Amino acid sequence: MRRLWALWGVAAAVACGGPPGAASPSADTGRGLYDRYCALCHGARGIGYSADHATQLKNRTFLATATDELLRVAIERGRPGTPMSAFGAVNGGPLSGAEVDAIIAYLRSLGDGAAIDVHWTRVDGDADRGLSLFRERCAGCHGARGQGKTAVSLVSPTFLATASDGFIRYAIEHGRPGTPMPAFGQSLTARQLDDLTAAIRRWARPVEPVTAAPASRPSQGPLVIHPQGPRPKFSLRDGRYVAAADVAQALKARARMVLLDARPLSDFRAGHIPGATPAPFHDDLAQLAAALPRDGTWIVAYCACPHAASGKVVDALRARGFTHTAVLDEGIQVWRERGYPVRSSP
Ligand code: HEC
Ligand code: HEC
Repeated sequence: MRRLWALWGVAAAVACGGPPGAASPSADTGRGLYDRYCALCHGARGIGYSADHATQLKNRTFLATATDELLRVAIERGRPGTPMSAFGAVNGGPLSGAEVDAIIAYLRSLGDGAAIDVHWTRVDGDADRGLSLFRERCAGCHGARGQGKTAVSLVSPTFLATASDGFIRYAIEHGRPGTPMPAFGQSLTARQLDDLTAAIRRWARPVEPVTAAPASRPSQGPLVIHPQGPRPKFSLRDGRYVAAADVAQALKARARMVLLDARPLSDFRAGHIPGATPAPFHDDLAQLAAALPRDGTWIVAYCACPHAASGKVVDALRARGFTHTAVLDEGIQVWRERGYPVRSSP
């Protein structure tokens, strides 16, 4: 049944230096970009899980079944509702189309170039039966509504818009060897695999249209929020993490502090804590650091991960001698869920 097609022979050729004369994205360029923008969460060479649910991108079955389209949309538009940001310039992120292509070429070079053609697979399952099976067998990791728990979300609109039925069914049947995703091919029947696929497919929602993002950085206010306000007294867990409730309280009390948003600008535009300054983890922070107060004013960095990007920013500041720095412990997703203030900027 399984047909191995060398569909991505071209990508493999590019990875080995590329056909002579072809103006193709270079996996070498892609590697540099990957190290700067992706390794923080997906680990060196796509090994996965440097931060929470960031998947193993070098995974053989993933690369063999994921189309370039799935990869491109995931990178450019992110997985809304998860820590995976929109990195494409088309969405206000830092990467041009050519840079995204180079990263895809690099990811392809991590696999063996084999492609498993799953996209013809016809799945005709019963979504209701699939859902009860999902609650039994999958919810422990993926959450009862597929929203993600200890493992990835299965409901992000950009995922469902680009994952074919065959891709989803293959992942369930064969798992992702080398990751916590088990292979269910032995323990479930073909019908059950179809039912699960149908249940996941039913979570598809329309993808928000791309709104041409402005090329300029979002306008930003002063670095220090409420310069005349009282200084908050934060006590840090493990000398590093400040509770969201304490920061929300300080914001309400109009306390003097600096908030740094460590995510790509696309996320900042979509929604940030009022008064925050963009400080994307992938940028050189020298200029920002030169402008930050060195008088013991609290500087709190946050991201969605919830600690990876913000932690990188805090480490960079501590290395430059800033003492009153902290990572927002729960991250902005929990901040938002709790109804603390969030603002978007056009
Ligand atoms: C802040 C952490 C973080 C960074 C940085 C990040 N990712 Fe992700 N990425 C994630 C998480 C978490 C997921 C899983 C999201 C979910 O739950 O669906 C993900 C998912 C993905 C997926 C989908 C994988 C699948 O199995 O469907 C791709 C592809 C991907 N990321 C590529 C990249 C690339 C390329 C970069 C760099 C340009 C990058 N990511 C940067 C956290 C990150
Ligand atoms: C022990 C935890 C665990 C269980 C149980 C589990 N999964 Fe997963 N699943 C994962 C992890 C982790 C990944 C991501 C692996 C990777 O690529 O790094 C994943 C990936 C997937 C993917 C691919 C998603 C993507 O973005 O590429 C699908 C589809 C999926 N699981 C469906 C299921 C279904 C359906 C079940 C129940 C029959 C299930 N999983 C049970 C942990 C689990």
